[in-house]
Amino acid sequence: MEYKQKIKRVVFFLSICWTGVWAQSEITFEEYRFRRDQLRELLPENGMAVFFSAPIRNRSNDTNYNYHPDRNMLYLTGWEEPHAVLLIYKNPQQDAQGNYSEELFVRDRDAYEELWNGTVVGIARAQEWGIDRVRNRKEFLDRKDHYTSFDALLLYEFQNDVRDKANDPFDLYALQKHFRQQINYPNELNAIRYDLYQKVRQVTAEGFVSLQAEIRRMARLDPGIEKDALLQNFLAIPKDGSQEELKMQSAYLLRQTHFDLEQLPKLMGQLREQKSPTEIDLLKKAIAISVIGQIEVMKALHPEMSEREIQGIHEFVYKKYGAADVGYPSIVGAGNNGCVLHYSHNELEQVNNQLVLMDLGAEYKGYTADVTRTIPANGRFTAAQRELYEVVYQAQEAAIAVAQVGTPFSEITQVAYAEVSKGLMALGIIEGADELRRYLPHGVTHHIGLDVHDPGAYEQLKPNMIITVEPGIYIPKGSPCDPKWWEIGIRIEDDILITTKGLVNLSAKAPRHWKAIEVMMQEDSVLREWKLPELEN
Ligand code: GLY
Ligand code: MN
Ligand code: MN
Repeated sequence: MEYKQKIKRVVFFLSICWTGVWAQSEITFEEYRFRRDQLRELLPENGMAVFFSAPIRNRSNDTNYNYHPDRNMLYLTGWEEPHAVLLIYKNPQQDAQGNYSEELFVRDRDAYEELWNGTVVGIARAQEWGIDRVRNRKEFLDRKDHYTSFDALLLYEFQNDVRDKANDPFDLYALQKHFRQQINYPNELNAIRYDLYQKVRQVTAEGFVSLQAEIRRMARLDPGIEKDALLQNFLAIPKDGSQEELKMQSAYLLRQTHFDLEQLPKLMGQLREQKSPTEIDLLKKAIAISVIGQIEVMKALHPEMSEREIQGIHEFVYKKYGAADVGYPSIVGAGNNGCVLHYSHNELEQVNNQLVLMDLGAEYKGYTADVTRTIPANGRFTAAQRELYEVVYQAQEAAIAVAQVGTPFSEITQVAYAEVSKGLMALGIIEGADELRRYLPHGVTHHIGLDVHDPGAYEQLKPNMIITVEPGIYIPKGSPCDPKWWEIGIRIEDDILITTKGLVNLSAKAPRHWKAIEVMMQEDSVLREWKLPELEN
């Protein structure tokens, strides 16, 4: 971080502590403004960044999923409504009112829309949000020849998942279509094509022939590449083609792809990976709620319960404490189901005497926890379950122990992998470390925040990051080991705050050691008293 930015950050934190915003646990307009200013600092000269709101996702027929706002737009503005565009400029722009460096295009209020779907913020009220310009989204469609004057146009790849809403000529579909036309965004740009475009853009005389070979190889796999005019032009340059011709071709390609899909995700990761005091506060709350869910289930669980009922207890607790949603589909898997990493069917009607893996997180004011506990349905680990649990526990302990400012993410993973390998070898389940991935096929750490897998550079730990540490062992039925280990899936996942004074395990209150779990499972549950009537049919 540059010196100037560091000073700004310190002044900002002092100011929010001073004004008592910390205690309110709300992201203020000032903080959103600060975040946009930080992004602006990072933008290249004469550059601009573009963000679109998330699409409304259809569930079936005329029913949609609850709206989930785009996390970057939320991070930068707090805006939670669909059909919006945010533009952030490096250098001031001018209109009749004077200079501005950012614009948000939004829907205006609409009585009919509000009758069905509730309040729309609208332009007049959005003017109070501290964004330089809030404009009607219709004006976005009037923007012609605006974007070519910028030296860098930073955006996220379009995902082609937006529906054209009937009777709304200014919907997200229209906004994106217009913008794509303006910047010559190829209709079928996909990740492979974009990667090749980037390579062409950066090609050197030495790399020229091998890049042509790579494009030919990809063209055989992907008809879209084969038909791509830009790439075909590039292939048409002869081997002994002059440097001049190569430069002209590259310049042509550059002009055609007058945008950059690589930088913006990196910049947003840079901003979002370290949390502000208010973000830490909100995450602590999401985690504390999730911990209560785990504890209440430990008290209430018995072998006759279904996976769905267990899920319901967690999610009831979340709502009880004001969490609007879950941060990701809840995972409750008993026995073999616990070996499916993102199992979310949760359909087993009786968990019986199996281990139950519960990976759930409350989403509180947009921020999500990610906590996993694995517990025996009858309150007692069997010897085999306990031996495997101990391996995961020791791996998690070892990985958490190295988590401090400066530790590379890769070290956390390596420490956990080494411990699990050692443990599995000691139990005779694998013969060498090269077999580890059969039973632990995932990474063991990631950021949490507005996304459960929050973006970041994933290089070294820095103060005010909140990461998970989540080793596991999964031994599905039929695995090449003693059948006594079969149908056991274990993951232990905690949410760890990194500070200059050391780490804080924010989910530590959910019992984690096998003995502590067994003790908690002896406790009385209020749910024992809650008797619901039998279904009549
Ligand atoms: N709940 C998904 C994960 O642990 O990463
Ligand atoms: Mn996780
Ligand atoms: Mn998880």
